[in-house]
Amino acid sequence: MKTIHINTASKNYDVVIGGGLIEKAAELLPHKKAATAAIVSDDNVAPLYCDKLENALKTIGLRVVRFVFHAGESSKNPDTLIELLTFLAESRLTRSDMLFALGGGVTGDMAGLAAALYMRGIPLVQLPTTLLSAVDSSVGGKTAIDLKNGKNLVGAFYQPNLVICDTAALDTLPSAEIANGNAEIVKYAAIRDASLLDIIHEPDRRDELIARCVSIKNDVVSEDELDIGLRQLLNFGHTFGHAVEKLSNYSTPHGNAVAIGMVIITNACVKKGICPAETLDILVDALKKCGLPTSANYTAEEMFDTVLSDKKRASDHITLVIPEYFGNCVLKKCTLEETFDLLKTGLEEEI
Ligand code: GLY
Repeated sequence: MKTIHINTASKNYDVVIGGGLIEKAAELLPHKKAATAAIVSDDNVAPLYCDKLENALKTIGLRVVRFVFHAGESSKNPDTLIELLTFLAESRLTRSDMLFALGGGVTGDMAGLAAALYMRGIPLVQLPTTLLSAVDSSVGGKTAIDLKNGKNLVGAFYQPNLVICDTAALDTLPSAEIANGNAEIVKYAAIRDASLLDIIHEPDRRDELIARCVSIKNDVVSEDELDIGLRQLLNFGHTFGHAVEKLSNYSTPHGNAVAIGMVIITNACVKKGICPAETLDILVDALKKCGLPTSANYTAEEMFDTVLSDKKRASDHITLVIPEYFGNCVLKKCTLEETFDLLKTGLEEEI
């Protein structure tokens, strides 16, 4: 088992990574004062792992209640959130009880927000069961739901008390879901550590791969928990990626959309002479080896309209993540005109 300590201004906690950890969840809990555990999961994940988690938690005398919702980004909405909060109240959870978010990014984001809101905050354990949530969304405290106007528009920074990453749960993921998570790993490689690409396809080193991504995330969020500076580096490919997600009505999974977003901004930067052509070659090659898309059929005008409602926009500018070379990115405040120009340039054919 590997343990990464996360240090943020609001909370310090561990991310534990290893096979078979759902069964050991009770032993791993940082404190055992809770009387009730509320497990939140979707109807794909619940049949696979809810019983295991429930049995583990019962060994320390916890009463366990479950909230299971329909799987998919379309459930990450105000209605499901209110249903969940009502369920917590009806189950008479108190502030010393605990919420367990068992699943992928949608579950972690929405259950995390419910934990932040219910009684102004109850303890939260994240149990990511997808590669994407293991390397990214379960760590760092970003919680949210979507509005019709855009993704993650209602949320809070709310750190978990523990993240239990049971890598055995990743063994059964379909290849498309692994590819989706690999997009975020390629992102970490592009912004900070190109050598992650050396082990991305080595199944025996998956725990190490996840631990290294989580360590990078810790470096960033420990300095900037609230996403006003350095943390924005983690948004590489996300501004244009979110536009792809939204325009596809969320049928393009997050990682796939981020892959396309990374290619658009990198292509633009190559064309503008900001980074060498090799940066794009390495990126596209890595994404293709993961089975990820590198383009989408949307116009700059369509995408820009969506970019304008992105929460990363300030009134008159957007901070974009700009590659200098593969393995290093910087933040650049761009006017809306500059952003549109980069988007249009990035959508032109790659050189
Ligand atoms: N997923 C990007 C972040 O946590 O900041």
